[in-house]
Parts: sequence; structure tokens; C-alpha cells
Amino acid sequence: MKVLITGASGRVGSMLARHLQANGHQVRGFDLVEPSPNTLDEMIVGDLLHTKVLNRALDGVDGVAHLAAFMSWHPKDVTKLFEINVTGTYNLLQAARGCNLQRFVFASSGEVYPELNPAYLPIDEAHPTYPTSPYGMTKLLGEKMVKNFGEQIGLPFCILRFAHTQAAPELLDPDSFFSGPRFFVNAKIRQLRSFPPSPAIEKSVAALQQVATEQEQLFIACNPDGQPYRMAICDARDMIQGVTLALTHDNAVGETFNIGPVTSFDFDEAVNYMASVTGLPVHKVHLHTTSYRYDASIDKAMRLLGYSPQYDIFRMIDDAVSTQVGEGAYAERISC
Ligand SMILES: NC(=O)c1ccc[n+]([C@@H]2O[C@H](COP(=O)([O-])OP(=O)(O)OC[C@H]3O[C@@H](n4cnc5c(N)ncnc54)[C@H](O)[C@@H]3O)[C@@H](O)[C@H]2O)c1
Repeated sequence: MKVLITGASGRVGSMLARHLQANGHQVRGFDLVEPSPNTLDEMIVGDLLHTKVLNRALDGVDGVAHLAAFMSWHPKDVTKLFEINVTGTYNLLQAARGCNLQRFVFASSGEVYPELNPAYLPIDEAHPTYPTSPYGMTKLLGEKMVKNFGEQIGLPFCILRFAHTQAAPELLDPDSFFSGPRFFVNAKIRQLRSFPPSPAIEKSVAALQQVATEQEQLFIACNPDGQPYRMAICDARDMIQGVTLALTHDNAVGETFNIGPVTSFDFDEAVNYMASVTGLPVHKVHLHTTSYRYDASIDKAMRLLGYSPQYDIFRMIDDAVSTQVGEGAYAERISC
């Protein structure tokens, strides 16, 4: 199969490209930036907002994994979110008319659900969609366009609602976009300070500052009552498996699937484990900003696609330690 991967230079796209190539598929990448290293069969550096280049990107491909997107939760980025994730997806779908694609896979997100206030748990695909972030709204609009075009032009689509997805080494990297502020005290303070001030942010920063030191430390994010957060993080390697099944499995056509790990994890268990393997100090901190406590069901993908995730949070942490710095050296490295 010849596959166009939009977002081929990103976290999931770059790993997906390598996986598809290793399994005999041909890959054409499309992204704003060149992948590093570029080992793709073909690469087009372009922008979803520039419609002319999209015809060239789609020319002669059998399948599309549409992963290119902008992710931000900052109020200043709302316009850009809608431009890239909604207009960009619309442009790609328009260009796909008449291309006779065998499959169009759209990377949506668990944020199409009201993850902060679910109607029931675990959240399955039948759960009402009600995004609580502009990013989640752009993904829901993307889904609706994909379905609508799919039905109108006979495009065999599949929608995947990705859980939060990380390459394992990001988990222990205080500078990483997601995991830094999720698990590290100073990174969380920096993130909160970058948002417009609010009483909830001020209270949260004050709680973090009580334990902060110059050396980076871990924290267990808890809600104001002291209950640790609970969420699902998917290893990018499992996400690649899900996207590959969505591209190739007959049962995927016309369906929407949650793709993620088998279970969510409680932050106290996972962060205490991070502390034990890294030697970093850990603190419980009550935050007053948005708190997470949810479980999502991947039963449908397991049943219909044979999706079988291999990496839980503890295995990801082990891999992060061994691939990033080697056991024992972690605390020393990040205090430098
Ligand atoms: N990583 C997660 O936690 C997560 C969770 C839910 C959904 N998703 C979705 O999965 C997909 C892949 O996620 P990821 O973690 O690999 O993201 P990523 O940010 O690592 O990669 C996205 C890629 O899209 C490219 N891109 C952005 N704007 C573009 C444009 N206008 N034209 C062309 N390329 C553009 C970027 O350069 C980047 O390489 C995205 O659609 C994302 O919204 C990710």
C-alpha cells in the first residue's frame, strides 16, 4: 500500500512511517518540516493551508493517515487551532475527492469527550461528545467533516480517538511538551505562569512553590481534595499499531475507535514509581486547575480490529529510564 502520512515529522507520524516501511508499505510524508532523519520513500514539505500542494501529496496514494495537526491549550492559539485542524482537514478532504482512496484515517482525540466531567466511565465510543477545550472542538469538527465527506464521496474513512500519546522517553523529560508539566514541579510552574492569570492558577502555583527547589523534582498532581489525578497515556508504539490496523483492516471502514492503553493509571502509583527509578524527590501537590479522573474503553478496537496494546505506564517508565540516560544517572543529569 502507498500511504500518505500528514504530520510525518511528528511524534506519531515519524514512528508510523518507519513501521509501515518496515512492513513493506511505501510512504510519502507531508509536513511543515523535514523529518530528522529523513528515511521516507518520498517527502513533501508543505502546509495543509496551501491547497495546491495537497493534490501533489495525494497523487497516486492508496491510503492517508491524516495526523498533521496543531496542539495547544493556550487561549492565544485558538485561531491557529481552527485554521490548521479544521480548515487544513477540510482542504485535505477536498483534495481527496476523485482520488479513489482505499482508506482515510483521521487522528481525532479523546478530548472530543467531556473527559473532565464524563457522564459515565469507562468512556466508550457511544459516550456523548462535548469537548471542553477549543482543541477538542477542532477535532470533533474534523470528525464530522471526515464522516460527511466520507459518506458523500464514498471515502472509506476510519476515525481514531487517540488517548494522550507519548514516546516513552518523554515521560521523564522535564522539557517535554506534555510530560514536563504533568510530572515535574518547575515545569508545571512555568506552564501555569504562561497562561493568563486566574485565582485557580495563582493557588496552584503557590502550592507548587511550597515544594519547589532549583533542582527539578517530581510531583503527584491531586485535585483540591487530595485525590490523585487518573488518566490514560498511550505509548506511541501502541498508537502506531492502532493506526496501522485502521489503515489495513476491513472492519475499520466507517468506524470510530478509541485507541489507547488497556487501563488508566493513578498518578500516585505512576509518579512514585518514577521517583523510585530516578531517585528524584516526589511531592503530593493539590492543584486547583482542571483535574483529570477518567477511564476510557478500548474494547471496540480490541474486538473489531484485534488491537492489542503492549505498553502500560510502568513499562513506559522503565523504557524511558533505559533509553534516556541509563539507570541511576537520572537525578544527577537533571540537577546539572
Ligand atoms: N500526542 C497526543 O497526546 C495526541 C492525543 C490525541 C490526539 N492526537 C493527534 O494525533 C496526531 C499526531 O499527534 P503527534 O503527537 O504526533 O503530534 P505532533 O505535534 O508531534 O505532530 C504533528 C505534526 O503535524 C505537523 N503540522 C502542523 N501543522 C501543519 C500544517 N499546517 N501542515 C502540515 N503539517 C503540519 C507538525 O509539523 C508536526 O510534525 C495529531 O493530529 C494530534 O492532534 C495526539
